[in-house]
Amino acid sequence: MSSRKKLIAGNWKMNKTSADALALVADIVTAVGRQTDVEVVVCPPFTSLEKVAAELEGSTVKLGAQNMHQEASGAFTGEISAPMLRAIFATHVILGHSERRAYFGETDALVNKKVISALKNQLRPILCVGETLAEREAGSTLKVVQTQVEAGLEGVSKELAASVVIAYEPVWAIGTGKVATTEQAQEVHAFIRGLLVKLFGDTVATKVRILYGGSMKPSNAPELLAQKDIDGGLIGGASLEARSFVELVTAAAAIK
Ligand code: 13P
Repeated sequence: MSSRKKLIAGNWKMNKTSADALALVADIVTAVGRQTDVEVVVCPPFTSLEKVAAELEGSTVKLGAQNMHQEASGAFTGEISAPMLRAIFATHVILGHSERRAYFGETDALVNKKVISALKNQLRPILCVGETLAEREAGSTLKVVQTQVEAGLEGVSKELAASVVIAYEPVWAIGTGKVATTEQAQEVHAFIRGLLVKLFGDTVATKVRILYGGSMKPSNAPELLAQKDIDGGLIGGASLEARSFVELVTAAAAIK
């Protein structure tokens, strides 16, 4: 059995009004808000973070944001900072999601600045990495992932590295219904664990959770979550309904 507690995080992306978000989180809290076997995080859009935070109070479910700016404050119209997220009791923040990289031009260097800022403000970054279909077909998956992990974590101290969460999300598996095979996923997860050993040593590498993301759902989760280096999931589509999200938490809890 792994010493790492499984983590199931819901990335709601640009979905749910505040009212919809409240209804969803209420159902999640009712179903899994007291258990402590699995760490559960929900990442709603900025507009409902504060309301969702209030609904989560007293439960074991944690709050994450989907992005943030690297600076603490200033003239950055439309942006939100790490201290602002901390102030509403967020504990996690998704950084470097492939959609941010592809549609908003986020580079490894920018993602790295955000990671550093999140850690400085006691937020756990969920650093997303993953190859495109073209990169996989070209045989460069591991090289791409290596660059994203190394660049994303540059300058992170050994002490803080243990609180980083990494999400391996093959871009071709996101929202496509095409899930990576357990072998494909485990291979990359083990590779990332090896990189962490090189960067931060064994003790830290053993602590870092590496999530899989990309069309994870109740039907394919048990097999993925049973892999040695798959410590949970970053869930898109299946996190938008309480029933499937709760089933994923249950699937994670069943892995011994
Ligand atoms: P899907 O679960 O919808 O494929 O999305 C995965 C994802 O991008 C989570 O961040």
